[in-house]
Amino acid sequence: MRNPIIAALDVPDAGAALKLATEIAPFVGAFKIGGELFTAAGPDIVRRVRATGAAVFLDLKFHDIPNTVAKAVASAVRLDVQMLTLHTSGGAEMMRAAEKSAQDTAKSLGLPAPLVLGVTVLTSSNHETLAEIGCEPDSEKQVLRLAQLAMKAGLRGLVCSPLEISALRKILPPHIQLVTPGIRTGAEKADDQKRTLTPREAMQAGASWLVVGRPIYAAANPRLAAEKILESLG
Ligand code: C5P
Repeated sequence: MRNPIIAALDVPDAGAALKLATEIAPFVGAFKIGGELFTAAGPDIVRRVRATGAAVFLDLKFHDIPNTVAKAVASAVRLDVQMLTLHTSGGAEMMRAAEKSAQDTAKSLGLPAPLVLGVTVLTSSNHETLAEIGCEPDSEKQVLRLAQLAMKAGLRGLVCSPLEISALRKILPPHIQLVTPGIRTGAEKADDQKRTLTPREAMQAGASWLVVGRPIYAAANPRLAAEKILESLG
């Protein structure tokens, strides 16, 4: 079985990211590079993490006109990332352009196409957040609506909260990959993630990949924390 743990490198600079990545590499399946690290360290950090042989998930959550998103995706493919994100609320045409760009660019470089993951409703959004921007205020309905739109547009994966996995599994084709943050082991202190599952529970609910941030990088011993999470998956 492949290792489904994606460790979020949510640290402020390249030095800290490479130190963390080297420490935990034996126990994780991929590294996630998000807005904080990418904005500080640029595409070079993606190349340096890839150079260790590890898979990279570039989590920049693209949301723009289809042409611009397609070009951003092409740039990500040239960095040889294995997963990337966009906002499904950008619409079907934007998602279709992104998926086509991922496929076409990868083909022209002789690389496997990265998994383009759609973000539906951010876990920080609630009823009020959705209502204030004029969306369907029932977050579960909005998630299902955007998930269906993403399927129509040809995406092969979604990011979702652990508590949405079961509902999504009921409506999605089985080959769709679900990537889930909001993973907590119970050992760490409470933080801003409110709707969480343990790694094992999330896998049993049907997650394909688990994004784990603070339970690893903020642990007293990140290497041991990653090892324990992997062991807990059995
Ligand atoms: O530290 P923690 O385990 O909460 O980190 C979760 C990671 O997943 C962070 O990088 C966060 O940006 C990301 N994420 C999330 N919720 C979403 C989408 C992404 O927590 N809905």
